[in-house]
Amino acid sequence: MIKFMTRKGGLLWGLILALFVAMLVDLPEARAEYGDVVINNYSDGAGMRPAIFPHWFHRMRFRCKVCHADLGFKFKAGGNEINMVKIIDGQFCGACHNGEIAWSVENCNLCHSGKPGTPTQVHESTIQKLVQPTGAPQKK
Ligand code: HEC
Ligand code: HEC
Ligand code: HEC
Repeated sequence: MIKFMTRKGGLLWGLILALFVAMLVDLPEARAEYGDVVINNYSDGAGMRPAIFPHWFHRMRFRCKVCHADLGFKFKAGGNEINMVKIIDGQFCGACHNGEIAWSVENCNLCHSGKPGTPTQVHESTIQKLVQPTGAPQKK
C-alpha cells in the first residue's frame, strides 16, 4: 500500500485511472453506434406501438453473419419490410422468436414497446447526435 503513495506509484495509478476513465467515456459511444433500432414502417399505422430491436443485446449473443447474411437482414434501420406474416412464417425476428431459440411471437409487447409516433431510427446513433442539438429529449 505504501508503495502507491510514492511519486512514481502515484503517476502509475494516475495513468491507469486516466485509461480507465477514457474507456468509460468511450463505451457509450461504441454502444450508441449500433444502439436500439426503432422499426416503425407499419406499426403506427396498424395501431401497434413501434417495434424496438435491441441491437447490442443481440450482437452480444450472435455473430453479425447470423442475421445479416444467413437471415438476410439488410444493414438499414427499417430497410427490411418486416411484418407479422413473415415473422410467424419464421423469417426475420421469427427465425429465433419461435419459442425455441427465444420466446415466441405471442409476447407482442416485448417487441412492440416503442413510444407511439417514434419514427424508424437507430436510437442514439452517433449520426443522430451530430444532427440533434445536445440536450434533446431522450425518448425510449
Ligand atoms: C419478435 C418481435 C415481435 C413480436 C413478438 C411481435 N411483433 Fe409485431 N412486428 C415486429 C416487427 C419488427 C414489425 C415491423 C414493424 C414496423 O415496420 O412497423 C412488426 C409489425 C407488426 C404489425 C404491422 C405490420 C403487420 O404485419 O400488420 C402489427 C399489426 C403487429 N406487428 C402486431 C403484432 C402482434 C399483435 C403481436 C403479438 C401477437 C406481435 N406483433 C408480436 C416484431 C414483433
Ligand atoms: C440478431 C440479429 C442481428 C445481429 C446478430 C446483428 N444485427 Fe445488425 N441489425 C439487425 C436488425 C434487425 C437491424 C435493423 C434492420 C431493420 O430495421 O429492418 C440491424 C441493423 C444494422 C445496421 C444498420 C443500422 C443503421 O444505421 O441503419 C448495421 C450497420 C448493423 N446492423 C451492423 C451489425 C454488425 C456490425 C453486427 C455484428 C457485430 C450486427 N449488426 C449484428 C440484426 C442483427
Ligand atoms: C438470431 C436469433 C434472433 C433474431 C433474428 C432476433 N432475436 Fe430477439 N432475441 C434472441 C434471443 C436469444 C433473445 C433472448 C431471449 C431470452 O432471454 O430468453 C432475444 C431477446 C429479444 C428481446 C428482449 C431483450 C431483453 O432486453 O431482454 C427483444 C425486445 C427482441 N429480442 C426483439 C427482437 C426483434 C424485434 C427482432 C427482429 C427485428 C429480433 N429480436 C430478432 C434472438 C433473436
